[in-house]
Amino acid sequence: MTKYVSLPPDSDIETFFVHMNKQEVILSENLEKSLQTATDKNKYDKLFILTDECTHRLCLPLVQPFGFLSDAEHIVIGATDTHKTLETLAHVWKSLGDKEATRHSLMINLGGGMVTDLGGFAASTFKRGIAYINIPTTLLAMVDASVGGKTGINFNGLKNEIGVFSPARSVLIDTDFLRTLDYQNLASGYAEMIKHGLISTTDHWGELLNFDLQQTDYKALQTLVAKSVKIKEDIVEQDPLEHGIRKALNLGHTVGHAFESLALEENRPHLHGYAVAWGMVCELYLANLKCGFPTDKMRQTIRFIRETYGNFHFDCKHYDRLYKFMTHDKKNTSGIINFTLLGEVGDIRINQSATRQEIDEMFDFYRETML
Ligand code: GLY
Repeated sequence: MTKYVSLPPDSDIETFFVHMNKQEVILSENLEKSLQTATDKNKYDKLFILTDECTHRLCLPLVQPFGFLSDAEHIVIGATDTHKTLETLAHVWKSLGDKEATRHSLMINLGGGMVTDLGGFAASTFKRGIAYINIPTTLLAMVDASVGGKTGINFNGLKNEIGVFSPARSVLIDTDFLRTLDYQNLASGYAEMIKHGLISTTDHWGELLNFDLQQTDYKALQTLVAKSVKIKEDIVEQDPLEHGIRKALNLGHTVGHAFESLALEENRPHLHGYAVAWGMVCELYLANLKCGFPTDKMRQTIRFIRETYGNFHFDCKHYDRLYKFMTHDKKNTSGIINFTLLGEVGDIRINQSATRQEIDEMFDFYRETML
């Protein structure tokens, strides 16, 4: 006989979701201890560790000696976003099945955003969902991808087209992994931190623009990472399913995803954070035009982005294609391109639109400013 449970009233569903799925995010100073505690919280029968070819080589050796991982099964996938595909996902599902994972198994995703997104999706769908823990190893994954429960894969030429909201049981952030990162990957993650600065406070935005990424002070970076993660966590906690304020985290992404898709289509891929940084240049222009975002702060942010990320080259022949990519964005409703803009640092304006003419002018501005 079917037994019905009464769901909380509509207004409480978000709160219900938050409590059922509250994700623990730990800034770890001792990964062995933190991971032991996190795995002990889950009664699992089998443990799986998912890595990509890079983190298998560079990061797994740092956790493999942990005694409680000695029986863990390993699954390795190809590195970079080009492997964030249905084929890779099927490989992970098949490996879990072949290695006899059950619904009570636990998966540890050790890697960057590609591994935590795809691994989170594989875990969340295998046998209707097994528990997983994220150990992000890139700056981008630490401050963004691994926190907040978005999982998925690219599909049909579109980024993160297929996926579910399904939070990791624990996210363990150990900034020592950042020492294995090259400059480009550090800069890529830093773009999401700049975004968090822009949507939070002038103080935090200012300290981010003054940080020297070339001569990285890792201790100072750890403090900035902690602030950045807190900003994201606070927003996700208020709106886990992105009906409202979580859209603040999309700043720079409407145009950024279009740049990323164009670059991919033309076989000149760029790291996600670079595209987001260039996207923020465009969207700060719109913010300035439509919401009165201060010109001096727009200029200072653009200067930092130009010096750190260089330029993304395109010309007016690409405008139609970029516009088309933006119309496919998941964030749109009824075919209207949805932007998150700002009236000031921390003054978030979600659900903003722009005319085609304003968008063309935005691209003109980008090309003139970033030369
Ligand atoms: N990466 C944006 C979000 O998690 O909502």
